[in-house]
Amino acid sequence: MSSTPLLRLLHFLLLLLPAPLHDYYFPRLSSGGLDVYHPLILFAGFGCPDLEARLTEAYTPSEQMALVYDSVHNEYRNLAGVETRVLNFGSAYGFSEKQMVADRENLCLVSLRKELEAAGYRDGDTLFGAPYDMRYAPPAEGYVARVQELVEHASSKNGDKPVILVGHSFGATAVLGFLTSTPLPWRNKFIKHLLLISPPPPTGFMLTITHLTSGPSVFQIATVPIMELRPLWRTFASALLAMPSPVAFGHKPLVITKHRNYSAYHMEDLLLALGFTADQTLPFLRRRTLDVEAPLVPTTYIIGGGIKTPEQLVFWEGDFDVPPENVYGDGDGTVNMASLLAFGKELRRQQERNNVHFKALAIANASHAGIVMEEHLLRMNYMEQ
Ligand SMILES: *[C@@H]1O[C@H](CO)[C@@H](O)[C@H](O)[C@H]1NC(C)=O
Ligand SMILES: *[C@@H]1O[C@H](CO)[C@@H](O)[C@H](O)[C@H]1NC(C)=O
Repeated sequence: MSSTPLLRLLHFLLLLLPAPLHDYYFPRLSSGGLDVYHPLILFAGFGCPDLEARLTEAYTPSEQMALVYDSVHNEYRNLAGVETRVLNFGSAYGFSEKQMVADRENLCLVSLRKELEAAGYRDGDTLFGAPYDMRYAPPAEGYVARVQELVEHASSKNGDKPVILVGHSFGATAVLGFLTSTPLPWRNKFIKHLLLISPPPPTGFMLTITHLTSGPSVFQIATVPIMELRPLWRTFASALLAMPSPVAFGHKPLVITKHRNYSAYHMEDLLLALGFTADQTLPFLRRRTLDVEAPLVPTTYIIGGGIKTPEQLVFWEGDFDVPPENVYGDGDGTVNMASLLAFGKELRRQQERNNVHFKALAIANASHAGIVMEEHLLRMNYMEQ
């Protein structure tokens, strides 16, 4: 069985360690397989974790997955009477593609999991998964402590070796939110390497706006028209997490109507124009992730690019209920290149200031999802950023 590009990349990353460290950690590393047993924890993308909801007596039927924002405590919670939990926490099998499109399961790091298993990794032994509740951002209360426990468990099960964390797309957001909430000495002790693949940067991207206007293409339910999910989507903390920021987009007009343009400086006005109340804009104004916070553990940042990506949205008549006309620019098809670069640059600055390893790789013609799905992509030359 030939290994997938991502597995080869992982192998390649491990080989990048300085020789003495490398010999210390992987004395038995063979040139063929990956007989390296650093425990590994996967964090797959947005639609991948499985959530279970239980309705109690206090529940009255409405949008059962909606979140309620508590502006006094700046917190989100479930509707009264709804209890939710993430299924299969701890397992690399805790992620599955919901849209059931052939071949799409690989979007949820399934091919990487299978390759790791073929190389000798075992779920619950050397391989783990940390599914999250994707409605929250940063991760829901309790998630940080749970993942910390999982990391410690994975390490102690493997001779106290530090752990490798792999996050793709919103899974990268979850793993970053987790890491930056832990004490630095803890990170230094337990984390060997962090692999961030196509993270949606906190510096923002245009699809965040399209999801608010045209419905969430990342959160579909087969039987429900996407526009009917829009009100539900707008209650999620994650929906407002990556609004375009001036750091990445400056004064460029991003949303264009015949009467008024909105740049990244005007996102509050845009939310009001979309029908948000002043209260509903508060989580956007107070979001914690406005500032980039580097993980300060050895990190590899892998992004795709060279794919046409919506960069300006034209709602000429000012009707935000009709799909916009897109003006395209560079990116990974989902996230704009300007933002991927701004985020990478700030991560590098903070990592280097603290003398922590940071490597950025851009893969030409790799899309946001294709980067973990398509065999040919990682055969491309890596361009170091
Ligand atoms: C909005 O931006 C477009 C594109 O840059 C520009 O042509 C137009 O004049 C601007 N409109 C307004 C009302 O500022
Ligand atoms: C990316 O795709 C374009 C169009 O298909 C092609 O011309 C170009 O050579 C590709 N770039 C790389 C580095 O493969």
